[in-house]
Amino acid sequence: MATLVTGGAGYIGSHTTVALHDAGRDVVILDDFSNASRRAIDAMRSLTRADLVVVEGDAGDPDVLDAVFGGHRIDSVVHFAARKSVAESISDPLGYYRSNLGSVISLAAAAIDRGVRRLVFSSSATVYGSASALPVTEDSPTVPESPYGETKLMGERILADAAAASDLTAVMLRYFNPVGAHPSGLIGEDPSTEPANLVPRIMQVAAGRRDRLDVFGADYSTVDGTAVRDYVHVMDLAEGHVAALDTETAPVSSRVYNLGTGSGTTVLQVLAAASEVLGTRIPYEMADRRPGDIEASWADCTRARDELGWQARRVLAQMLADHWNFARKHPES
Ligand code: UD1
Repeated sequence: MATLVTGGAGYIGSHTTVALHDAGRDVVILDDFSNASRRAIDAMRSLTRADLVVVEGDAGDPDVLDAVFGGHRIDSVVHFAARKSVAESISDPLGYYRSNLGSVISLAAAAIDRGVRRLVFSSSATVYGSASALPVTEDSPTVPESPYGETKLMGERILADAAAASDLTAVMLRYFNPVGAHPSGLIGEDPSTEPANLVPRIMQVAAGRRDRLDVFGADYSTVDGTAVRDYVHVMDLAEGHVAALDTETAPVSSRVYNLGTGSGTTVLQVLAAASEVLGTRIPYEMADRRPGDIEASWADCTRARDELGWQARRVLAQMLADHWNFARKHPES
């Protein structure tokens, strides 16, 4: 029996594929390569020394899903495939609702039809919006501030309802800020679009591909005035998916978990850590706040620890070292 990983060539998907393989599972990848590189497949094959099955197609297309479920013995699903740009979701909301929710509905229907018992959904801390109290628990209010965030929250609700009415168990994982790469440097963040996130941009400055980092906002009510996030190593996230597939969540049919480290870091603290780890000064300038940004967010991960037996193990220096190791080896990405 195999685990179907939609979006398995993407950033978190590729690391999860490797972690699933390391845990002894067979994996079938479904990806349309709209925001992922085919190089990731070769890299995963050489890392796992396995002939990973890859199907090219859209996870929202019922015909594609029919062929995948018909052609392979699939007993569980991890669903990553989705569009994930906040800015793009504001300019193309209908595209985001159609694509991100269409795939959830088609995939859940196909999985239930075929008797799949477990589906793990890639969600995001973005569903919380501006946190009213910190740290953020799974019971904190959900107030997404973009169509992208709405698609994640709606996706969770659709899956919870579908699971309640079937034998499927749905596990939703709300990631905080994923950073880092596989320690081999073979897989990492390799999107086909220009990065907007902090750490990929810091790496571009370090590599000389950007003159400086603009620090978006120096007037937040935080220790140094810059915004706070909970950065978590992508390998820890990948292991969280393995735990989410393996752990019995009965008697509930669906359950939400935060995946983060449980501690917050400011933008200036990330910059200082990057300068130290990379051994180079990262030039930066203070700039205006980025519209839509929140001041601070970090996770309470007690539920994942208690129920999944999962805890993030890797610290910020490791995240930055591994991210840099991949970036250095893949200057074109
Ligand atoms: C962003 C997305 C969020 C997504 C998350 C993980 C937005 C508004 N939110 O969150 O939906 O789940 O990425 O991929 O896009 N920063 C700078 N300079 C830069 C880039 C970022 O100062 O050049 C700052 C940001 O203002 C923020 C922090 O660094 O305070 C982290 O930014 P980023 O990595 O983009 O993550 P989020 O904003 O938390």
